[in-house]
Amino acid sequence: MFRCEHIVAEKLDAKYSWSIHAYAIIDLEKQNQRRQNMGLHPRKHKTEPHDSWAEVYDEAYEQSFGPLYTMLTDVSLEVIQEKTEAGSDILDIGAGTGRLSIPLAELGHTLSAVDASAKMLEVLKRKDTNRLIKTTHCRVQSLDLNQTFDTVLCVFSVFSYLTDPKELKTAIHSIVRHTSETGYALIDIPSDSSFSGLNYESDTLSRQVTVTVLDPEIGLFDYVENVRFLKDKKECGYNDNFQIRYWEPKVILDQFKTLGMIVREDVSDRFLGSGADYFILAKK
Ligand SMILES: C[S@@+](CC[C@H](N)C(=O)[O-])C[C@H]1O[C@@H](n2cnc3c(N)ncnc32)[C@H](O)[C@@H]1O
Repeated sequence: MFRCEHIVAEKLDAKYSWSIHAYAIIDLEKQNQRRQNMGLHPRKHKTEPHDSWAEVYDEAYEQSFGPLYTMLTDVSLEVIQEKTEAGSDILDIGAGTGRLSIPLAELGHTLSAVDASAKMLEVLKRKDTNRLIKTTHCRVQSLDLNQTFDTVLCVFSVFSYLTDPKELKTAIHSIVRHTSETGYALIDIPSDSSFSGLNYESDTLSRQVTVTVLDPEIGLFDYVENVRFLKDKKECGYNDNFQIRYWEPKVILDQFKTLGMIVREDVSDRFLGSGADYFILAKK
């Protein structure tokens, strides 16, 4: 059983947050080396970050982030609704379990959701009870939907999961290609102070996130996630381990500029306390 007291070891402020989100693709050998170090059996197939704990992702985030999580979702939807005409085509890149896709589809927009984790998309599809959302299991770097969208979303730390400059460039190019000439993209860029751990325990969920610096020069971190929870009175647990990277806003925004999209509006003020800057980008 988990301890009964409700402890949030790190305050829900700008510093605590986005460590929870990011990852990089690690090859199978490295994954298995890490699993062995953690006392786990090797995997036969390469998994994507979030695959192992997709089923508890929503609960883990809702509980450990508390009211900030709902507040952030509400602000995101508010900003998107302000900038998007009714019945628009929206592409949600790194859509996860549909935090934004599902309410936006229910508001009448046409949603396409893309994610590198098949397990996260499975949860999204289950929650999309009216089957409003088209899903694509794919990394943003290799996405080619042969279509442009009025609105492209790439938020909640998706960029931190890209640890290689070439992958970052390819991902940005993909966002540019999928944004229509008159459309816009909403992105977030987590701040360096947000690459920190988290310790959360309640009577139903225990969550430990450890973020360790691997290379301070380039802002590369090792991310370890341990989630334990009670299901049908039995204790279940999931682990995840991947790398994440801090990108300076200038690096990302310059790349967008080179590839044909510029900042239309810095909306970071709307997201104070999120630990990230938020930008609206459009074609020149
Ligand atoms: C922290 S979650 C955020 C989910 C969603 N955007 C939201 O706002 O709730 C990050 C998601 O990005 C996905 N992701 C990470 N790297 C990706 C990539 N290269 N291509 C597509 N999805 C990616 C992860 O699988 C995960 O579902």
